[in-house]
Amino acid sequence: MRLTVRLDGPEATAALAARIAGIARVRDVIALAGDLGSGKTAFARAFIRARGRANEDVPSPTFTLVQTYDTMAGEITPDSTADQPLTIWHFDLYRLQAPEEAFELGIEDAFAEGSR
Ligand SMILES: Nc1ncnc2c1ncn2[C@@H]1O[C@H](COP(=O)(O)OP(=O)(O)OP(=O)(O)O)[C@@H](O)[C@H]1O
Ligand SMILES: [Mg+2]
Repeated sequence: MRLTVRLDGPEATAALAARIAGIARVRDVIALAGDLGSGKTAFARAFIRARGRANEDVPSPTFTLVQTYDTMAGEITPDSTADQPLTIWHFDLYRLQAPEEAFELGIEDAFAEGSR
């Protein structure tokens, strides 16, 4: 199934990210693909903030390539229905030359944690 949603501006993207954050569960993988400046980081930032890290500076992991965020059930914002503490792994795979390099970033740890 393919669903197309038009997002007219950063607020719309943030609102969609917050809604998806409200239903996201351990083991979910959200792949963001798009041109430079298309809003991938904007989506990730809004998602992480909606999962309870509202005051968090959410950098784009362009240089670190991976960032993790521990979210607590008690920090969930009122407009979010998320109820599970979990770690969000935010990978930026843009600079990788080969798929295997993702292993060096701990992607297996992310999937192993997600299988708990
Ligand atoms: N509908 C929209 N959704 C998200 N961002 C938007 C939208 N319209 C305009 N913008 C603006 O576009 C920019 C998106 O930048 P962002 O860093 O999220 O892109 P990116 O996909 O992560 O780029 P890069 O591949 O370079 O990391 C922001 O400045 C944001 O305010
Ligand atoms: Mg980005």
